[in-house]
Amino acid sequence: MALAGKVALVTGGAQGIGRAAVQSLLQSSAKVAVLDLNKTCGEQCKAQLDAEFGEGQCTFIQCDVSNGDALRDAFQTTMDKFGRLDIVINNAGINNEKNWEKTIQVNLTSVIKGTYLALEHMSKEYGKEGGTIINVSSMAAFLHSPHQPVYTATKHGVIGFTRAMADASITGDYGVRINVLCPAFVDTPLLQTVEQEDNMGKFFKFKDDFKLRLGQGVGFGVIQGQRGLMSRPKSRNVDAVRAGSGVLERTRFQTRTS
Ligand SMILES: NC(=O)c1ccc[n+]([C@@H]2O[C@H](COP(=O)([O-])OP(=O)(O)OC[C@H]3O[C@@H](n4cnc5c(N)ncnc54)[C@H](O)[C@@H]3O)[C@@H](O)[C@H]2O)c1
Repeated sequence: MALAGKVALVTGGAQGIGRAAVQSLLQSSAKVAVLDLNKTCGEQCKAQLDAEFGEGQCTFIQCDVSNGDALRDAFQTTMDKFGRLDIVINNAGINNEKNWEKTIQVNLTSVIKGTYLALEHMSKEYGKEGGTIINVSSMAAFLHSPHQPVYTATKHGVIGFTRAMADASITGDYGVRINVLCPAFVDTPLLQTVEQEDNMGKFFKFKDDFKLRLGQGVGFGVIQGQRGLMSRPKSRNVDAVRAGSGVLERTRFQTRTS
């Protein structure tokens, strides 16, 4: 799909699934603002993308999405740099049952804030031209595990919020398509945190149950994210959920296999 002339903003875009999305957007000729907390990773990411796609196609903005003012500023910086905004992917997420309040802030509150900010810049309600929002949930929203209660709650929340907002967009004629993506297991640094007591707290002891599900793929595929960028020939299914129709519509599609 050609996205020439379009501008995208991706949170948590310096690595993992977000980085893969950034790469894909650049390949489709969009310009991209990469927001991430991790400065080192973000700067490395930008340097690699500049080398591949040429300077000026993307920008890195260090931003903690759980800081509302910083997130607002990052949206404005994107507007100042590229002059418009068409696509927002609220992707940044963490897996931390020990600091579960932070998990709610990053995985749910920031997605809500990011959606509202995106609407301010894209919705016809604000006199803008419309656009697309994709909020990243998880397969965990469908298949709960004793290992991740709060993570699961946040991902349920992202689906519920996104469905309601998609309905609001249709009913209010915002001109903004709002969807939620529910990936299965993806081999990224986030997936490694399931084995770390620092992240899992008292639920750490359930890690074998979780790994069993992981090993079985729970009937889904494991897709390879950045740190290899979909380069391993394994099954690569991503479940997408289209919100807004009143019914959760799950579509499984495969990424490339070579
Ligand atoms: N990896 C999986 O198996 C999997 C499965 C389903 C859903 N998801 C979801 O996909 C999204 C991306 O996950 P991933 O696997 O690519 O993770 P990842 O850890 O590889 O990447 C997440 C990125 O978000 C950034 N980030 C974290 N906290 C941030 C904050 N407060 N502000 C700004 N940036 C922040 C990190 O620095 C990192 O670059 C998350 O929402 C995650 O819950 C992942």
